[in-house]
Amino acid sequence: MKELREAIAKSLKRFRNDVALENIIVTAGATEGMMIACSTIVDKGDEVLVPNPGFIVYGPDVSLAGGTPVEYSLRQENGFLPDIEEIKSLITPRTKAVIVNTPSNPTGTVFPKDSVKALADVATDKDLYILSDEVYHNFVYEGEHCSFARFHDDTIIVDSFSKTFAATGWRIGYVATSKEIVQQLSKVQYYTLACPPTATQYAILEGLRMEGPYRKHLRELFRKRRDIAMRKMAEIPTFTTAPVTGAFYVFPKYSQGIESEEFAMRILKRGVICAPGGAFGSLGEGHLRFSYANSEENIERGLEIVKEVAASI
Ligand SMILES: Cc1ncc(COP(=O)(O)O)c(C=O)c1O
Repeated sequence: MKELREAIAKSLKRFRNDVALENIIVTAGATEGMMIACSTIVDKGDEVLVPNPGFIVYGPDVSLAGGTPVEYSLRQENGFLPDIEEIKSLITPRTKAVIVNTPSNPTGTVFPKDSVKALADVATDKDLYILSDEVYHNFVYEGEHCSFARFHDDTIIVDSFSKTFAATGWRIGYVATSKEIVQQLSKVQYYTLACPPTATQYAILEGLRMEGPYRKHLRELFRKRRDIAMRKMAEIPTFTTAPVTGAFYVFPKYSQGIESEEFAMRILKRGVICAPGGAFGSLGEGHLRFSYANSEENIERGLEIVKEVAASI
């Protein structure tokens, strides 16, 4: 829908003044956005750098497009930030793109401007695309969200209303990039989906028109939830949690010597769901990922249960 693309373009002018509706394609969430972005730019045999730990779709999206995912590490001792020297060492003549996600799922880290700029400079120097998953850009509690599009022209922003409007099942998101790439994305999208659902496009457009100070309230609400989650984490002596500056996850490292899947299953048996860190890549093993997209009361209750389970292992 033209009106929705216009409204999205307007909201992106904070990153780049020249964003117009031709730079936007509406997608069925970031999941479809990332998939069509990979199908569009990745050729057979291309390599794409993906975060480890990172959101689960990136590697498979690259593989389904015929490429090879090459992992770069995000380590707790490095504040879960990319190591620029490691990124440089992973780039080969076959490298086509780097996938980034800030604020991050699962780590809850926001890349500071310096890290964004340093990585963008490498991508510019090596002529790489940046596929930037920015679905949590409204959930930043310290500092500011800095989009890769500020520093790198060949950036493909993948965003979604799933998180911002707590509308995960409505399946509306978008990709923002150059007009030429948008034209190619729309071809892939046609054969994948035809178009995103019209009814929910209207609903999201209405949401954008009437939101007022909503995003500020949302951030404050989640900041309180983050604070509660961090306080409860600190009560668990076997957990070490890095500062959480964005998204809505905490990703503690635990010292119990069991697999994250087993740990998560034991917690599940007591009625609390968390994700095993190993699901996000090999460097996620030894961590658990908790979402605090829940009421303050449930965060308190849930993490009290986690504390009991942790004490029993
Ligand atoms: C980092 C990240 N990207 C993309 C998605 C998918 O979002 P959508 O519902 O818009 O497909 C998620 C959902 O959890 C996510 O955490």
